[in-house]
Amino acid sequence: VSGSLDDAAGRARRTYDAASDHYDAEPLGFWARTGRLTVERLALPHGAVVLDAPCGSGASALPAAAAVGAEGRVLAVDLSERLLALGRAKAATAGLGNVEFRQADMRELDLPEASLDAVVCVFGIFFVPDMATQVRRFWRLLRPGGALAITTWGPELLEPGVSAFWDAVGAVRPDLERAYNPWEGLVTPGGLRGLYEEAGIDGAEAELVEDEQPLRTPDDFWAIVLGSGYRATTDALQPDERERVRRQTLDVLAGATAVRTPAVHGVARAPS
Ligand SMILES: C[S@@+](CC[C@H](N)C(=O)[O-])C[C@H]1O[C@@H](n2cnc3c(N)ncnc32)[C@H](O)[C@@H]1O
Repeated sequence: VSGSLDDAAGRARRTYDAASDHYDAEPLGFWARTGRLTVERLALPHGAVVLDAPCGSGASALPAAAAVGAEGRVLAVDLSERLLALGRAKAATAGLGNVEFRQADMRELDLPEASLDAVVCVFGIFFVPDMATQVRRFWRLLRPGGALAITTWGPELLEPGVSAFWDAVGAVRPDLERAYNPWEGLVTPGGLRGLYEEAGIDGAEAELVEDEQPLRTPDDFWAIVLGSGYRATTDALQPDERERVRRQTLDVLAGATAVRTPAVHGVARAPS
């Protein structure tokens, strides 16, 4: 993989390798919660063969492996070797021998067409600049009757935390611009259905599911920053700048008891 990564993929891998030290911390329970819900909504049959991409540390791959049973199989791919290692360890602890965590770029999977019963893509489609092309790549892998589940963020992700964070970054390092959210067009069910349509897929269903992540203290929000894509920004700060951003962010969040973690769940089924 390493030789062929473009800038965006290389950045994603560096960011999530770094974020792996907080990715599975308790304040990031939304990964596991949303992954599990995505899989439950699919009602995968025993024996199903599933691709999970990008899998992170296994938030949806592990429940999928449990759902398909010993006769089934899950291939879980991601660019971040450190997140994959976390996933492998959790699979071993859970005694799940039917899931393989493999380092791969989801754009370049060498899998036969019409070989899978389901493809699961949680918080990942927006890492690919040409999302519709990626949706078509996933769709071609499905057998008749197979399902393509795409889950994206709902509106106001991690608020009020994220606004406090970007305000603090702006105060300390005005040159670091508030990063554009590549999932912006997908935060509504209509937006996500539109992506399926753009890929030539009719009849997709999508639903907004509200969720929030409780904060035991404002510090929990800093764990979320370090264990998610915002890690790219904190790693671009000098240690003293990072500490000022952390303090200002957490001061603003004093009294906050939760941040929003809504998700839009989409699914389309290939004709039988
Ligand atoms: C927000 S995380 C979500 C992971 C997982 N589905 C979850 O919910 O925990 C996004 C992941 O996409 C991975 N990623 C980004 N671009 C990728 C690509 N082109 N191929 C494979 N993985 C990619 C990153 O390494 C990161 O682990």
